[in-house]
Amino acid sequence: MTRTDGDTWDLATSVGATATSVAASRALASREPDALFDDPYAGLLVEAVGLPHFVKVARGEIDFEGDPLFGARQAIDQISVRTRYFDDFFARAAQDGIRQAVILASGLDTRAYRLPWPAGTVVYEIDQPAVIEFKTRVLADAGATPAAERRTVGIDLRDDWATALRDAGFDQDRPTAWIAEGLLIYLPPEAQDRLLDTVTALSAPGSRIATEHMDPKALTGDWAKAMTERAQRHGSDIDLTKLFYSGERRTATEHLSAAGWQTTVLTSNEAYAAHGLEPVRDELVAMIGGSGYLTAVRV
Ligand SMILES: C[S@@+](CC[C@H](N)C(=O)[O-])C[C@H]1O[C@@H](n2cnc3c(N)ncnc32)[C@H](O)[C@@H]1O
Repeated sequence: MTRTDGDTWDLATSVGATATSVAASRALASREPDALFDDPYAGLLVEAVGLPHFVKVARGEIDFEGDPLFGARQAIDQISVRTRYFDDFFARAAQDGIRQAVILASGLDTRAYRLPWPAGTVVYEIDQPAVIEFKTRVLADAGATPAAERRTVGIDLRDDWATALRDAGFDQDRPTAWIAEGLLIYLPPEAQDRLLDTVTALSAPGSRIATEHMDPKALTGDWAKAMTERAQRHGSDIDLTKLFYSGERRTATEHLSAAGWQTTVLTSNEAYAAHGLEPVRDELVAMIGGSGYLTAVRV
């Protein structure tokens, strides 16, 4: 199945399964004694989706050893560095007085439930309707309660999500902390530009956004193909070549800089070093060596 305008999914299919995949890694990493973050809900969400491979990953039952990228230690470090980047981003925003957060493409992200939000914070989550409904129901059934006022918006991010967000109570006159974690490569280039322009239009001064910084080499399609082949050897049946929109696109860093945001990129290697971790040495990582994380602030 290849991507089409207006395609939809749940957490077991198409792009939705990628959300289950990262949640499985979070479940695995959360069980570490010295974990860099704790996601107490990731495991139960992955179990509820029920995709056998990711259930095994979440339970730590897959033997990844022997692969320098997919070994359990490497998988744990990778998701830990990534998760902490976005957790720390929200913590700093809260310290700086921001009380409105938007999680774009929230998938099985449980930050609304697990982060220590200051009183009065409103957290919006946007994703496909089936994804939003599933997570909300499973966590409610498990007795989990959000740690902030959580408002959900089930809509496709290629559509007019700004109106839906405003209808849910979003106040564009207040500074906002936005994250788009693991989203942009799943959008066609023009939809990515439109999304960033919409974020810009909705961002009062002092707003900020965190997302991935993609090395343009990651967009050629070669990396998605090589990554898919390796992941499938370990039992994954996700085919990134069918889910990514590869080819020319402006990076979020370039786009937001041009729109007047102040941008700061932390490469993956720098992010690993900040936690005292050894960066992964692997040909797949070398292919996209300049990738990392981007924070942009609207002045
Ligand atoms: C790799 S997952 C990341 C989920 C979450 N941010 C995380 O890091 O755990 C990609 C997410 O993007 C969402 N997504 C991708 N394209 C989307 C679109 N056009 N509209 C709404 N959601 C989208 C998917 O539903 C999925 O939840």
